[in-house]
Amino acid sequence: MAFKNLYAFVAAALSAAAVQAQTFQQLTFAGVNIAGFDFGCGTDGTCDITQVTPPLLQLGGSDGLGEMTHFVNDDGYNIFRLPVGWQYLTYNQSTGTLNETQFANYNMLVSACLSVGAHCEIDIHNYARYDGEIIGQGGPTNEVFAELWYNIASYWKDEANVVFGVMNEPHDLPSIPMWAESVQYAVTAIRDAGATSQIILLPGDDYTSAETFVSGGSAAALNMVVNPDGTKTNLVMDVHKYLDYDNSGTHAACVTNNIADAWYPLSTWLRENGRQALNTETGGGDVDSCVGYLSQQIGYQAANSDVILGYLGWAAGSFATDYILSETPYLNGTVWTDQLLVSMAMSPNTNMLVVGSVNMTSA
Ligand SMILES: *[C@@H]1O[C@H](CO)[C@@H](O)[C@H](O)[C@H]1NC(C)=O
Ligand SMILES: *[C@@H]1O[C@H](CO)[C@@H](O)[C@H](O)[C@H]1NC(C)=O
Ligand SMILES: *[C@@H]1O[C@H](CO)[C@@H](O)[C@H](O)[C@H]1NC(C)=O
Ligand SMILES: *[C@@H]1O[C@H](CO)[C@@H](O)[C@H](O)[C@H]1NC(C)=O
Repeated sequence: MAFKNLYAFVAAALSAAAVQAQTFQQLTFAGVNIAGFDFGCGTDGTCDITQVTPPLLQLGGSDGLGEMTHFVNDDGYNIFRLPVGWQYLTYNQSTGTLNETQFANYNMLVSACLSVGAHCEIDIHNYARYDGEIIGQGGPTNEVFAELWYNIASYWKDEANVVFGVMNEPHDLPSIPMWAESVQYAVTAIRDAGATSQIILLPGDDYTSAETFVSGGSAAALNMVVNPDGTKTNLVMDVHKYLDYDNSGTHAACVTNNIADAWYPLSTWLRENGRQALNTETGGGDVDSCVGYLSQQIGYQAANSDVILGYLGWAAGSFATDYILSETPYLNGTVWTDQLLVSMAMSPNTNMLVVGSVNMTSA
């Protein structure tokens, strides 16, 4: 879809949603998840680390560096999320102590990401759990969780482009205020480790749902989390949203742009409370319905770029090119070719509503 048509399509959707269409502004971030170090992790917080498939040639996996280089050079992406299981980093120990070999392996991916000049999110992909038990609510203590983050942040404290994603998709939390307390432990630990200025992403309940972030109580609870100096600088809300009928991200077809149910109420709350959010997972199948609805979603996000920083697709990395939500590009000889959804909707080179705050030239 040409930009002119896309713009008209998006604008039509915005007025259809009876939303005061504001001037489109460019988003700060666009990118994709580079998955593989999280493979084997389930929503119960178990991770079978024998399933890990590092997206790194030097570890016998797929060419994650080649993918990221392509995404930066050909698509204008400027952020990558790098999911990893807690169990992988500690070699199956429910502690905050990193296994040197395991952490070094994961850091190869973080370093590859930094080498292409992008922002790089460290994402602990454990659903607020370790082996079925919830952090700070029966599972690992907040102190153990804080130690994990202290050790990770110590390593990257001087790297401005590292983003700390406290936890992937908490869900079914007995107490959201208690979870916010666990998040506070992580934030304090990251800042105390010397990572004083980087973005930290704060995840809410219901699989980090953008739709229920406010109504479910996560917004109010996470709004209490502060830096050690009492400010909320660079503490950014973390939200996910898919476009299939049950918001599970497991079906190829898209049925919604999520504007009325998710992005409108979320943007309103963020603006009223002086906060911002980053959409670290979204996506759909490589089909026309997803090109259309995702273009509308991104258009709305861009119209609210004062409070929504950007989006990251799910997913590339070690996923096969025929995975139902694959954003893994095809490699033919030395030429990378994008999946339909990336080339037609998600790439800033296509949608033009996104531009980096990152100076790629200086990397
Ligand atoms: C780690 O624990 C899982 C069970 O959660 C098991 O399947 C796996 O073999 C263990 N791996 C190692 C390296 O100990
Ligand atoms: C760290 O992980 C490696 C595998 O990567 C394992 O061989 C080693 O025993 C682990 N070290 C400790 C101290 O657990
Ligand atoms: C890959 O490239 C070769 C040589 O340029 C070409 O003949 C072939 O059709 C390409 N295959 C695909 C799937 O694009
Ligand atoms: C980006 O970085 C390069 C190299 O450091 C510099 O020459 C250029 O002026 C920078 N561009 C912007 C827009 O800051």
